[in-house]
Amino acid sequence: MCGIVAIASPRTNIVESLLDALTALEYRGYDSAGLALLSPRGLVRHRAVGKVKNLRDTLPALEAAPIGMAHTRWAVMGAATEANAHPQFDGETAVVHNGIIENVGELKSMLPDIIWESQTDTEVVVHLVSSFVRKERDLLAAIKSTVQLLKGTFALVILHKDFPDMLVATKRINPLSVGKSNTGDLFVTSDIAVIPVEQYIDLEDDDVCVMRKRVGEGDFFAEFYTFRHNKLEKIEKTWKDANQTATVTSIGDYKNFTIKEIHEQPNVIQKSINALNRGDYIPIAQEMMNKSAINIIACGSSFYAGLIGKYWLERFGRLLTNVEISSEFNYRYPVITKNSLTLFISQSGETLDTLKAMEVVRAEQGDFAVITNVLQSTMAKAATRHLLDLGAGPELSVVSTKAFTAQLAVLIGVVIQYLKFKDPRAADILQEDFERVPGLLSQVMGQNYHLPLIPNASSILYLGRGICYPIALEGALKLKETTYIHAEGYPGGEMKHGPIALIDARAVSVILAPHNELFNKIVSNAHEVIARGGHVVFFTDAAGNAEFTQRANSTAYVMPSSGPVSEAFVYSLGMQALAYDAAGGLGCDPDRPRNLAKSVTVE
Ligand code: AGP
Repeated sequence: MCGIVAIASPRTNIVESLLDALTALEYRGYDSAGLALLSPRGLVRHRAVGKVKNLRDTLPALEAAPIGMAHTRWAVMGAATEANAHPQFDGETAVVHNGIIENVGELKSMLPDIIWESQTDTEVVVHLVSSFVRKERDLLAAIKSTVQLLKGTFALVILHKDFPDMLVATKRINPLSVGKSNTGDLFVTSDIAVIPVEQYIDLEDDDVCVMRKRVGEGDFFAEFYTFRHNKLEKIEKTWKDANQTATVTSIGDYKNFTIKEIHEQPNVIQKSINALNRGDYIPIAQEMMNKSAINIIACGSSFYAGLIGKYWLERFGRLLTNVEISSEFNYRYPVITKNSLTLFISQSGETLDTLKAMEVVRAEQGDFAVITNVLQSTMAKAATRHLLDLGAGPELSVVSTKAFTAQLAVLIGVVIQYLKFKDPRAADILQEDFERVPGLLSQVMGQNYHLPLIPNASSILYLGRGICYPIALEGALKLKETTYIHAEGYPGGEMKHGPIALIDARAVSVILAPHNELFNKIVSNAHEVIARGGHVVFFTDAAGNAEFTQRANSTAYVMPSSGPVSEAFVYSLGMQALAYDAAGGLGCDPDRPRNLAKSVTVE
């Protein structure tokens, strides 16, 4: 997703600081980058398609400047070209923007004489600010006039050539924070967690931060206003201590963050086990005792984690559980079960589809809980009932691995805590299996997996039954994300109702088959594939392997024997490792897959 960083500094040259900060934002996913510098000698801009390294390598000898801003763009409106990269700039006003201006057509019609250089919505903000500055000769007033016309979502940083000692930032829905370091640098950023600051302030919607140079001094100070109620009012904001530890996790001896984060999973799961034993899940479990249903709303891998949560909540907790894809939930006029508890799952806490769902639920039900990995995220701050921390540590690979299994760990932790009230004996049995997970995952680490026929397989089906069905969905998503090869997760029992037509000698089926109560049924699916010449990659355990007599075109991977809780973690890890190894074999970068963003802050 797009990244914003701006700096106002007593130093006279901040280019390197801007480029370093952009590098820290790279994990969000992007396809172009750019920066603008403001000094009494003028406002200059430079952009490049591709990585921040390209921007750095093509940077001309730029004027030293104490104020600047930079941006990594994840293309939405307009292809990944230099013309569409930010900052957008018309020679007077430069703007970096996260979000989507939804009334861009209407606004462009207000500017009939403009020759548009880009396909972006952001460019319209540039020309509106320039136009209002020419009329009002006041940058803050011009930005207020502009923002009042905007519909949609935005985090904006704006510089203007006629105001060389000033930087202005404002936001609506998309996150934007202000930070300060003990060296006197002031920052504006979309991701405060990875920028080295001592104190910070998260801007609220329609807040404005103005950074100005102290008259006669070299340093800058920050003032805050609000555009709320269509007025420009000065407001006071309270700085919070950042308490940042390692703001950007080092990669250590690992080849990339993906494999590093896969290997971190045993420790991450152990933290959730510790949280369960500490009683962290008691409040939400107590509330669940009085609820007739649970709603889980999320996107992508987080949605698949919610599906697994459903299997556990219904099978063990006997609680009706509805799981929704945020972007569908928001526009299908959903019925929210009375006396239900709604739970949002989001690693980033910034996924706009899920934030919108939060608005729908808030209007209808008022209260909700949040499971997230980023405690200073918009979602975490909006949690009205319970905020459950994944505790997975920064997940810097765009591909979610440890955050996904951490979501499973928190969900099963909540289920076990709930059962401690309802059926302590059952809780003990599940907890015993849960506590085996770190050790079981450690047994699987380092195993290698091979997916045959790629990249030329005619189709790749991931088949699972019961809880292995949502794991199959996540496994297929992992392969798509890391190798750009299409794969589809499917319920094993459904394969014969259509997809079996795909099976021939060029088709591959990844089959998840722990030796549980559904083993014989999923084995039948494996035989249906083999009987038609299809290739089978069979994930099972020792007992399953003893029964699944190998046939031509089939490979079995033997996982540790697992139980009704641990199987979800063991086979999820197997799917992650299978995708990781496939990506490696194809030379794909799993940390920064093309087109993908770490948090999708647009609808
Ligand atoms: C990335 O690997 C995930 N597959 C992606 O789908 C992610 O789960 C989704 O974008 C939701 O993100 P969130 O958990 O931050 O809301």
